[in-house]
Amino acid sequence: MSHPNPVTKAVIPAAGLGTRFLPATKAMPKEMLPVVDQPAIQYVVAEAARAGLNDVLMVTGRSKRALEDHFDRVPSLEATLQGKGDEEKLRRIQEATALGDIHYIRQGDPLGLGHAVLCARHHVGHEPFAVLLGDDLIDERDDLLGPMIQVQQRTGGSVIALMEVTPEQISAYGCADVETIDGQGYVKVKGLVEKPAPEEAPSNYAVIGRYVLHPAVFDVLEHTAPGRGGEIQLTDALQELAASDAEGGGVYAVVFRGRRYDTGDKLSYIQAVVQLASEREDLGPKLVPWLKDFVAGL
Ligand code: UTP
Repeated sequence: MSHPNPVTKAVIPAAGLGTRFLPATKAMPKEMLPVVDQPAIQYVVAEAARAGLNDVLMVTGRSKRALEDHFDRVPSLEATLQGKGDEEKLRRIQEATALGDIHYIRQGDPLGLGHAVLCARHHVGHEPFAVLLGDDLIDERDDLLGPMIQVQQRTGGSVIALMEVTPEQISAYGCADVETIDGQGYVKVKGLVEKPAPEEAPSNYAVIGRYVLHPAVFDVLEHTAPGRGGEIQLTDALQELAASDAEGGGVYAVVFRGRRYDTGDKLSYIQAVVQLASEREDLGPKLVPWLKDFVAGL
């Protein structure tokens, strides 16, 4: 590699309560919900690895064992598959272990996404880092983190990812008020509004779950008061950084126009599973005709 990667660390918060998926998430984090045949978090760790982020810190809450076990080796299972000569399954279970260096830190109480990011402070140190949420899966054919890292390097601020949604959809997301910058492939964020009513939304740009943050965010999070839902919100800290001229101030955004699968609530999760399974070579050819028949018979 001629250039050392300027951003090497990824933080994956996985300590939320996952209340929208109860009771499935009673004893396991929602990031472990399977999307076809892999837990959502494995897609996210693989995306981080593709962007050169091989140092991953997972912020875990209760029931972190399932997460740790998934990324750990299971010698007895490997030996059984080896004995049966099942190379394909052996390769697939080893994939998760080979993705990088995975570290874990505990968020004692789920005080909010901002607080979860703050828990990563000592691990991250004074360098820009990425945050990836398991709710959003980015298609492996599209690169979002690469351009975000470039914009972070160019601007020296923090970078968020936006996607255009319809006015009816915007109230389910954080929404960004943006200013275009001539000749640049990114925009400047003037402000952020969490889940606005459609008539109050400053744009149709929804914030999605990828961030490349300047470490200045930690100082801001230290004093960010609980906001919406009584939680320490990353959005509130970014709002403060957007208005700051100090070192590490300024928030910019990359507008993503690729394929994203939302697994954050039940309906979109089911849609994501059907969409991804339909595109798989091993499942699509049987699933798609069945789906067509099934829908025709409704
Ligand atoms: P969500 O807002 O989706 O909350 O968190 P949640 O608790 O996981 O899910 P619901 O809304 O109750 O169903 C966004 C991301 O931030 C993490 C979550 O794990 C998720 O990846 N998070 C949230 C934490 O790590 N800690 C928190 O205190 C809150």
